[in-house]
Amino acid sequence: MTFKPLKEKGIELDKQLRYWHDIAHRKYNKTLVDAYSRTRQILMNGIEIEAWNFKHNFARICKDRDTLEFLAQTKRIEDAQQTTINWFAPFDQSVLETTLGYEQVAVDLTAWLAQNEPDDYVRETFDFGLLEDFDHLYRYAQWAYMEHGINPNSILQDNTDVILGRPTQQHHNCNILRLRKPYDKKKTSPQTKVNILTVLSGEQQTHNYYAEHGFAYGNELLRETYAEIKDVEEEHVTMYESLIDSTESLYEKLLLHEFTEVCTYHNCMTDEEDEKLMPVWEEFLSFELEHLHIAAELFKKHEHRDPEEVIGEDIIHPCHFKNQKDYVEKVLNDEIDKRLDKNGGYIYIKDIPDDWASYKVQNIVNKKGSPSEGTIRVIAEQEGRDIVFVHDNLKYKLPELAGKGQDKKSLAPDTVRAEQYEEFKNKEFEL
Ligand SMILES: [Fe+2]
Ligand SMILES: [Fe+2]
Ligand SMILES: [Fe+2]
Ligand SMILES: [Fe+2]
Repeated sequence: MTFKPLKEKGIELDKQLRYWHDIAHRKYNKTLVDAYSRTRQILMNGIEIEAWNFKHNFARICKDRDTLEFLAQTKRIEDAQQTTINWFAPFDQSVLETTLGYEQVAVDLTAWLAQNEPDDYVRETFDFGLLEDFDHLYRYAQWAYMEHGINPNSILQDNTDVILGRPTQQHHNCNILRLRKPYDKKKTSPQTKVNILTVLSGEQQTHNYYAEHGFAYGNELLRETYAEIKDVEEEHVTMYESLIDSTESLYEKLLLHEFTEVCTYHNCMTDEEDEKLMPVWEEFLSFELEHLHIAAELFKKHEHRDPEEVIGEDIIHPCHFKNQKDYVEKVLNDEIDKRLDKNGGYIYIKDIPDDWASYKVQNIVNKKGSPSEGTIRVIAEQEGRDIVFVHDNLKYKLPELAGKGQDKKSLAPDTVRAEQYEEFKNKEFEL
């Protein structure tokens, strides 16, 4: 029988406070944990931060006493959930190892969402973002090896490919071009709304993580790589949030936030095999059911509408993590040369006009080179080539992909060209 969130029982708010040990206790070993338990942990941290942040913004402009009391009580709960989940990670998981986890979330989550997205335009936007995070993973994988001497697969566990995507140096757009067309809240399915809020929360937290940790390394080129990719994550937040209908009311948004929390925890609980993490997903799902029920009552009181009009009756699974290599490879082959066009459209390199707004941005930020390109130069200098984990046929296509994905009109001066990838082809990387 389908799980119906508005009908399931939760735990009362005054039973949701927990003691410090439960909040601060670490839960996994970085080498023993399953890669997809780690991605669930990373994503749910982002979901909780978005819930907490939204409630603070709501509280600052809210006059209704009942609503303020609900927000006051649950901001603290969302915050404790966030800390619990974020601190599952052990202190010996380095910033770069965690970073590989963040980009693995972005790639495999966005691929799942794209394939389970009923709205074609939103799906196209997911595919577009997917190829950019896929390239970030490739660049960071090189650094994980160079800085810590680790095989990036010790984190990824062979679930996600590592190869060039749409090159990071070309993710720097005029932020006005990042603005996509918003959905119509009256016509759009709950699935689309939850999908967008889920990926948006993940991207926002990825931005925050790089902003807070990118300075952890002394290596100047690595610091600049974090700065460069952090800025792209900022663009991703702008892109995904622009898909949301801006006429959604705050009570509608509150309902959607709690519903997204219920759906993501339910999805985690359904998929989890780690016996330390499982009870946390179960417990937090029951917390969120209560948040959802109260948010639904507030929505009815203030909007005089049924919550089902916004969130439907059934649970949605927006974060099922699994190997997405085939799907990502298809998008890579089809869309590496796709770019953003004005008015929410998309365009391929061959059709871009000379006065394209993103050229101005790229000519400034990449003026003295792109750190993400410098990354490949440095590892090639040391090891003869870049680290790539894909099947052989795709590996041999790397020079062709590099040539197709690079917009010649806006290449950073230190770009690693297709001919240099051709030279890498005949060298084996010895890990
Ligand atoms: Fe929460
Ligand atoms: Fe990324
Ligand atoms: Fe991203
Ligand atoms: Fe909540």
